Amino acid sequence: MCAEKLALYGGEKLKSTPFGAGNRFGENDLHHLKEALEQGTLFYWYGDKVKSLTKKFAEIYDMPYCVAASSGTAAVHVALGICGVTAGDEVITSPITDMGTIIGILFQNAVPVFADLDPHSYTLDPKSVEEKITDKTKAIIAVHLTGGPTDMDAIMDIAHRHNLKIIEDCAQSYMATYKGKLLGTIGDVGCFSLNDFKQISAGDGGLVVTRSEEMYEAALRFADKNYQRLPGKSAASRDVPFIAPNYRMNELTGAVGLAQMERMPKVCARLHEIGDRISDAIRDLPGIYPPKVQPDSTSTYWFYMFRIDEKEAGVDRNTFSDALAAEGIPNQRGYIPSCIYNYDLFINKRGYQGTNCPFGCKLNGHTHDYAPGLCPTAEDILNTAIRFSFNEFYTDADIDDIIAAIRKVSTYFAEKKNA
Ligand SMILES: Cc1ncc(COP(=O)(O)O)c(C=O)c1O
Repeated sequence: MCAEKLALYGGEKLKSTPFGAGNRFGENDLHHLKEALEQGTLFYWYGDKVKSLTKKFAEIYDMPYCVAASSGTAAVHVALGICGVTAGDEVITSPITDMGTIIGILFQNAVPVFADLDPHSYTLDPKSVEEKITDKTKAIIAVHLTGGPTDMDAIMDIAHRHNLKIIEDCAQSYMATYKGKLLGTIGDVGCFSLNDFKQISAGDGGLVVTRSEEMYEAALRFADKNYQRLPGKSAASRDVPFIAPNYRMNELTGAVGLAQMERMPKVCARLHEIGDRISDAIRDLPGIYPPKVQPDSTSTYWFYMFRIDEKEAGVDRNTFSDALAAEGIPNQRGYIPSCIYNYDLFINKRGYQGTNCPFGCKLNGHTHDYAPGLCPTAEDILNTAIRFSFNEFYTDADIDDIIAAIRKVSTYFAEKKNA
């Protein structure tokens, strides 16, 4: 059989209809926004929307405590604060993530340490994590990248043996599970983002969940200038013991977040279904590696990222990406431009302008070298991956087209290789 000519080379473009589209916001968001305004206050401690949002999220996640924050970055920073991460500590995390995972570490004057990744789940490789532990390691941030879980059994085992705190960065993984448990409920703290690009959006915003009452109370304070607002506690509410930022969520954000809670399970179920369907339909293609999801676990595919083995596939990643785009499937090469440790901030070791803090902090006392080659598997991932997004409005026909386009491109180059 002769493979169909690719659109890249003048053949017929496969996707001829627009992708399904829709508005994530509607009457329910307006209803809660109106109620928020009618309260006469948009301050979270006086109003009801942020409280209802955190209550609802805690219910869905079956967690005793949830605290709101102003962004996912803020949520991670709060998590670090309540885990006691402070000047001179080290925090091990992933080199492929958003800066939001890293910013809080630096603001605590702690040092980010990057561990390598599993080649196909794109999440922390437990063996590499263990190799990076020092006497200064305080916590691990497990980033459940793309919507799929980290190998949490292995990470929790490391945490117990080395007495480390575990923060789950679930900014990309609402409602995804690891062995039956929702991501964010396994470590000490789970963090979520409500920015406009996630499975659900409140424009911006963050959520923090924990099982510890002590950490919950600390989170309320850490997200709010370290002020004590809980009734019955110290009257000296402004006598703060150490600095904490103002990461408060306002009632308008809370109102939209609350409305989005009603959509969240359905949206995530649909994304999970779409992603798994694509993986099952392309798994047999030579040199095409769909994302790995841990056994008995689920991903909610904030984006879909697969890898190309150039030798097996008979085509390099960039040509595959161009060919897919020509077929009408927009996509990107890799994810972030390079591993985070290659960003100027790390190469120059300048967390703060004009100083080498926190990298040269005497309280840390270790030498940290950030350079290309530090996490070879993570670098390979970025050099060989193709990613694209889908959303809950995509139709089954859209998904069929995505699958057909990947199969068309792959088959063309596989036949050429074998000719
Ligand atoms: C893994 C991860 N962590 C943290 C963040 C930060 O979230 P936010 O943009 O809400 O600050 C993001 C956002 O893209 C993310 O993807």
